[in-house]
Amino acid sequence: MHSAIVNPKGTWWVPAHKGEKVWVAIAFAWCMVLFAMMPLWHFKGGQNPAGVRHTVTPTAFMARVQEFANQYKVGEENGIPVVAPPAGSDIYMIGMQYQWYPMLRLSKGASYTLHLSSLDMNHGFSLYPLNINFQVVPGYDYGLRITPNQAGDSRVLCNEFCGIGHHTMLGRIVVVDGDNRTMPAASPDSAAATPAAPTAGGAL
Ligand code: CUA
Repeated sequence: MHSAIVNPKGTWWVPAHKGEKVWVAIAFAWCMVLFAMMPLWHFKGGQNPAGVRHTVTPTAFMARVQEFANQYKVGEENGIPVVAPPAGSDIYMIGMQYQWYPMLRLSKGASYTLHLSSLDMNHGFSLYPLNINFQVVPGYDYGLRITPNQAGDSRVLCNEFCGIGHHTMLGRIVVVDGDNRTMPAASPDSAAATPAAPTAGGAL
């Protein structure tokens, strides 16, 4: 008879072979390397978003977005303001069922702090075709420090299922060479006369 606290009789086990001990030691050492890489990569890895994070109530964030949109609005497209903020400023975009608000018009080479949050539920900020992805969570203000390094016309897709209209949730960020507040001849104010939306690249 033997139990959990009384050893069975006889040789029921053999001591670990030296080779086994060596491999356990190597595996443990490698675990420690991976463990150290987690905090190390947070500081050294280039893929982490650089920016500030705060908690914020969705209504307070929405009010700030509205204030920002009113301050720097240069046009309108499908009822959504087109906003051209000055270089170095804090800029805002909010996700909600089912739109990104407002549309942004930025200057290439200028730096901004892009604040992202949600009014209602999780949305996924996905910049197409640049392949930049970020979770947008209600209650949190994510301020991403960005410097657009190429001019272009990008769409903001939602890549987090947020309801029946998820696939219609499309925003727009345009980056121009030079002054973002100088609008081209075809002003978006005449959008009522232009039924197609959104317009082709560079027309904003
Ligand atoms: Cu918002 Cu899907």
